[in-house]
Amino acid sequence: MAERIPIASDHAGFALKESLKARLTALGFEVQDLGTSSEASTDYPDYAHPLAEEVSTGEVMRGVLICGTGLGMSYAANRHAHVRAAVAWNPEVAALARQHNNANVLVLPARFVTPVEAEAILQAWLDTPFDGGRHERRVEKIELEGDSQ
Ligand code: RB5
Repeated sequence: MAERIPIASDHAGFALKESLKARLTALGFEVQDLGTSSEASTDYPDYAHPLAEEVSTGEVMRGVLICGTGLGMSYAANRHAHVRAAVAWNPEVAALARQHNNANVLVLPARFVTPVEAEAILQAWLDTPFDGGRHERRVEKIELEGDSQ
């Protein structure tokens, strides 16, 4: 069965979302489009929270968010338990976000990457496994810190 990957953006990320949806579908994923559906102005948290909730509850393994800088989407997504949303602006950062941080949400800054660059970033994030080992302990400490507050 194909892995379901949710993807969502605000207006700034809409065009890139459409092109990455096609890419994910071509790669064989079942793409779940959580909006937005046009370039009309919207509020990024309205899209980040539903996607992050799916990752947080384990309904899906991973998801993709897109806004202008990547920042607003990552702030909102990272409020959810077990979500590690990483803004990546090149494939190296995306690979490290997987290897060291086990990032389960990729956040793309649509205003600062080309569609071709975004595809390469997406591919690196999809293909790179978590290194585990010492990084496992560090990632676990993210959750512990949150729980004790
Ligand atoms: C929208 O103009 C922009 O603020 C949004 O896409 C994002 O960059 C927020 O962090």
